[in-house]
Amino acid sequence: MSGEYDLESGPDPATFAAGVAEPDIDEETDDPVYAVGVGPGNQEYLTPRGRRAIETADVVVGFTTVVEFVEDLTDADLLTCGYKDEADALEAFGERVAAGESGTAVAMGDPNHSGYQFVGKVQDAVEHEDPEIPVRVIPGISSLQMAASRARTPMEDTEFVTLHKSGDLTADMDRLANAVRDRHLLVLPRPYDRMPGDIAQFLLENGAEPALEALVCENLTHDDERIHRFTLAELAEHAGGTGKADTPFSDLVVLAVRQPV
Ligand SMILES: C[S@@+](CC[C@H](N)C(=O)[O-])C[C@H]1O[C@@H](n2cnc3c(N)ncnc32)[C@H](O)[C@@H]1O
Repeated sequence: MSGEYDLESGPDPATFAAGVAEPDIDEETDDPVYAVGVGPGNQEYLTPRGRRAIETADVVVGFTTVVEFVEDLTDADLLTCGYKDEADALEAFGERVAAGESGTAVAMGDPNHSGYQFVGKVQDAVEHEDPEIPVRVIPGISSLQMAASRARTPMEDTEFVTLHKSGDLTADMDRLANAVRDRHLLVLPRPYDRMPGDIAQFLLENGAEPALEALVCENLTHDDERIHRFTLAELAEHAGGTGKADTPFSDLVVLAVRQPV
């Protein structure tokens, strides 16, 4: 699939990453590349297995905002990037692991929660250089799990929807509108056109109960963590706009909407 994807027109790297189950991997002999979830930001929420994959790597690749959470744990070469130079960083990473270095890619939270675009791109970059090198996902603690803990919304009674992706969100919004009748919601907003206020307004327009409790969980596990508590009707007052200045919340938020129990 190398070189075929474009976030606006697909095929989506997330679909590639989810295309087949992970193969059987012998970590001793197969020297996999690891795709590690580093947790929500505070190192106390990084698993020992993820930490070891970071500590023992020769080269670590990831977004600058993710790598900086773990850079003090390793002597690895750090290939940091943003959206614009992501492809270059991943290409360099693929070349280095194909040349025999041990490689770890780091993702925020847990890669299995709204993280497969990155996993797919890592897998593609590695396979492009050497199709024999497998990629193993090491899960992390997701911001969703943190938000569920703060909001006390057990996963079995909760609908999780990510809006944190490019393209058409109609099916995801429909799922929210249906679920809000009888299930808790955990939502990853999209900066900055589907922020918590916009989602609250959409839910009200689709018949949600205005008195439902809505928690905007910001900077979870960081020193400046804040849980903003509203009714859905109060939160909808923050709807509107598509820019950073149009919302009181940062882009590091999870929205939880609670059903009464
Ligand atoms: C592309 S998604 C990836 C989610 C990630 N894989 C996870 O499991 O948390 C990035 C979004 O996750 C949410 N997020 C990640 N870390 C967070 C934190 N510490 N506090 C609140 N929200 C967070 C924000 O909505 C952010 O825009």
